[in-house]
Amino acid sequence: MKVREKLLKWDIFLAPYSQAVDELKIKLKGMRKQFDYESRHSPIEFVTGRVKPITSIIDKAKTREILSSNIEEEVQDIAGLRVVCPFVDDIYEVVDMIRDRQDFEIVEEKDYIEKNKESGYRSYHLVIKYPVETIHGEKLILAEIQIRTLAMNFWAINEHSLNYKYSEQMPEDVRNRLKNAAEAAFRLDEEMSKIRQEIREAQQVFRRKQD
Ligand code: GTP
Ligand code: MG
Repeated sequence: MKVREKLLKWDIFLAPYSQAVDELKIKLKGMRKQFDYESRHSPIEFVTGRVKPITSIIDKAKTREILSSNIEEEVQDIAGLRVVCPFVDDIYEVVDMIRDRQDFEIVEEKDYIEKNKESGYRSYHLVIKYPVETIHGEKLILAEIQIRTLAMNFWAINEHSLNYKYSEQMPEDVRNRLKNAAEAAFRLDEEMSKIRQEIREAQQVFRRKQD
C-alpha cells in the first residue's frame, strides 16, 4: 500500500476518536463551567485532550505485540483526556461525578494515588466506553481519562520529557531524583490539603471583590 493510502486509512480509523476527544473535552469542561456559574469551588482546574499520534500507536502495538486487528480493544488510550484538579480530594469528587454520568460507561479504574507506580507516577485512571455517532451509525470506542492534581501533573509531564530524552533508558541518578521529586510533589499535595479551607476562603473573598 502506498504511504498516502495508508495515511488515509489511519485518518478514517482515527476520525471517531477525534470526534470523541472533542466531545469529551466539551463535556468535562462543561462540568467546570457549571461550578463557576454556581459560584462554587470547582474540583476541576483544567481539562486537556488529545488523539494519540499514529507513530505512538504503532510503537505501542509493536512493543506490546498487539495485532493490528486488536488495536481498538488493546490500545485504550488512542483517545486521551486529562482532568487536572487543585487538590487530591477533588480527584475523588471528579471520579464520583463521572461515575454518575449516563452518557458513557466506565470499564476500568486504576488508582495510582493510593499506590503509586514504581517510577513515582501518581494519577487516577479511568477507561470508558464512549458512543460516537458516525454517519454509519453508533460506534463504541475506548477512551482513557487521567485525573490528577496540578502537582502530579507537573511531575508527570517532566518525567515524560525525560523518558523521551533518554528513550526509556534513564540513568539511575536521574531516576532517583525523579522519585524524590515525586515524594516532594506528594508532600506538597498533602500540605495544601491541610490549608485548603483557608485557601478556599481567600478565593471566595477575592471572587466577591471581583463581583
Ligand atoms: P499503557 O499501555 O501505557 O496505557 O499502560 P497500562 O495499560 O498499564 O495503563 P496505565 O494506566 O499504567 O498507564 C496509562 C498511561 O498513564 C500512560 O500512557 C501514561 O500516559 C500514563 N503513565 C503511566 N505510567 C506513567 C509514568 O510512570 N510516568 C508518566 N509520566 N506517565 C505515566
Ligand atoms: Mg492503558
